Amino acid sequence: MSDPERELRVSKIRNGTVIDHISGGQALNVLAILGIDGSEGVGVSIGMNVPSDKLGTKDVLKVEDRELSQGEVDVLSLLAPEATVNIVREFEVVEKKRVERPERVVGLLTCPNHNCITNQDEPVESAFEVVDDGVRCEFCGEIVREDIGDHLAVH
Ligand code: CTP
Ligand code: ZN
Repeated sequence: MSDPERELRVSKIRNGTVIDHISGGQALNVLAILGIDGSEGVGVSIGMNVPSDKLGTKDVLKVEDRELSQGEVDVLSLLAPEATVNIVREFEVVEKKRVERPERVVGLLTCPNHNCITNQDEPVESAFEVVDDGVRCEFCGEIVREDIGDHLAVH
């Protein structure tokens, strides 16, 4: 049972997306992967390391007036596999999107190998295969296991 005294008090939103049960400390990386830096002018609420029954502590993100696509949700799963994504319209949760690991991630990450063809002057879009312990560059084989959030391509 959750203890109401320990619940996060962040206002409900009217329209938008609530990303709940994000692994503790990953909220800023999730914002980065969604390309949200605050300059959009939409309301963003961030709860970090708040108590959670399921996870111990969790992060929660509320983004107003934006509904995440399934593609965005899938990429998010790499950083926050436990996350639940709630689409809110007129204060009601109208949809809970399943977070599933995608098989491939195209254009969203940069390869850490500077010699990789995706890092040369000729533009070649990055593509990574999702493997058990991370993601593998389809061009050079480099594997990113940890800190995937540090390899986000700039939007
Ligand atoms: N939420 C919100 N604004 C709304 C409606 C819901 O910010 N207008 C938030 C809730 O605070 C919660 C999340 O969206 O963090 C999911 O809402 P809901 O499905 O009602 O909560 P639970 O049933 O607790 O969700 P779950 O079973 O996924 O834990
Ligand atoms: Zn590469």
